[in-house]
Amino acid sequence: MSQAIHRENLLKAKKVIDERKPLIKKAKMRQRYHFMAEEGWINDPNGLIFFNNQYHLFYQYNPYDSKWGAMHWGHAVSDDLVHWKYLPLALAPSEPYDNHKQGGCWSGSAIDNNGVLSILYTGTTNYGKGSVQTQCLATSEDAIHFNKYEGNPVIKTPPVTGGINFRDPKVWKYKDYFYMVCGTSKYKLGKVVLYKSIDLREWEYVNVLAESRGEFGYMWECPDFYPLGGKYVLMFSPMGVRDRKSIYLVGDMDYRTGKFDYTVIGEIDWGLNFYAPQSFLDGKGRRLIVGWANAKDWGPTFKENWCGSFSIPREVKLYDDNTLMFIPVEEFKQLRYDERKIENIRISNDKMFIEAGDGVAFELKMKIDLEKTTADSFSLFLRCSYCQKTVITFDIKSSGVTFDRNKSDGWSKGISRSPLKKPDKKILDIHIFSDQSSIEIFTDNYRTVHSGNVFASNKNNKNYIVANCGSVIINKLSTWGMNDSTE
Ligand code: FRU
Repeated sequence: MSQAIHRENLLKAKKVIDERKPLIKKAKMRQRYHFMAEEGWINDPNGLIFFNNQYHLFYQYNPYDSKWGAMHWGHAVSDDLVHWKYLPLALAPSEPYDNHKQGGCWSGSAIDNNGVLSILYTGTTNYGKGSVQTQCLATSEDAIHFNKYEGNPVIKTPPVTGGINFRDPKVWKYKDYFYMVCGTSKYKLGKVVLYKSIDLREWEYVNVLAESRGEFGYMWECPDFYPLGGKYVLMFSPMGVRDRKSIYLVGDMDYRTGKFDYTVIGEIDWGLNFYAPQSFLDGKGRRLIVGWANAKDWGPTFKENWCGSFSIPREVKLYDDNTLMFIPVEEFKQLRYDERKIENIRISNDKMFIEAGDGVAFELKMKIDLEKTTADSFSLFLRCSYCQKTVITFDIKSSGVTFDRNKSDGWSKGISRSPLKKPDKKILDIHIFSDQSSIEIFTDNYRTVHSGNVFASNKNNKNYIVANCGSVIINKLSTWGMNDSTE
């Protein structure tokens, strides 16, 4: 084990990033205000933490290519969650337990251990040939340079209740102990196992926190567990469940037994690409989540030497019925320009065009009057050109939302579907963020979210609304153009 090899591999990666960065200068599909890496591939957000008054975002990163491989940890910081500054990479594969060619430094989390920024991550080796996944520690005195712990791996084997898929440690502190959840699998059932420690080095297995009985897939990736408004929330991304990408459970935690008793099951985001969200508590006491916005269909951006972006950070809050709401953070308001507002609009037979910034990067908010609306449904046609369109349909009569990308861009496919809950019977609220290559839709007072990739060009800049079988009454429609926040 040598810090020198680690340093050397970090430098090699840095050189590759500098060489490849100019290649993306002409990229046309780069997001304008969602987080991306400088070049190359990213997947899960890792180690999110508010530390020394700054937001730290780490991420699964392959700087060598625009597809998944040799996992490093990228690192960026921000004062406002909107503008990010890239820092030197935090972790590169360097040890037998996180070997470069056969795995690397997989997902994990960060924690403040008395001023020492500490990372717990999964070291993976022999991937694809009887993978060995262990939990490892790295620490930093300056929150930039990380040393891998000499005693790694800190958890060398899965518990008897788990199997070889054993990864993605998420750590928190409760009273005198650090606790950690990891995702694992046994007899083809996904589960989350719980450990505890006093020093992040010696870990004691506690129990199976929660597990699938067949309904939630064969492996639970990226678990996250946190207190919220007197309850506990478990989030995870199940493998082997069609079209379910990120699930939350709400219930009560018993630290004496290490068991989580849940009563509410919900979807964090119904979209086909949102995956592996991670949460953290910020300086304002908000519980925020950020998700990988590119799962399953990675899109054509590899042709431009990059792949992957993250969702807008969302604040998680608990409703009285113990369901969750996910609200995009208000910091993004600073990017708004050219505000347009119209009130009391009736749409019947004609489509109504919506002016919103340049029609590509914009924010839109609207309130539909459900009492006066007679239409069975209405559709928002977004990012349209002559023959392409992304269609979001709100079916009022049969209470559903669909996000249809089959004609979006000549690449993306599929329709995400969810119930429309209409918690407020009088008003239906809709909040949309459109960026160069993604659309995020929030409705039902932020209970229902759909986000998805849309790799449409700048010519796809027409947006309009159509009522089906009746008229739609919009009480208020506001739009803003969104300025760039990325380099
Ligand atoms: C989820 C995941 C994690 C793993 C990481 C590897 O997308 O498969 O379970 O740690 O990605 O990059």
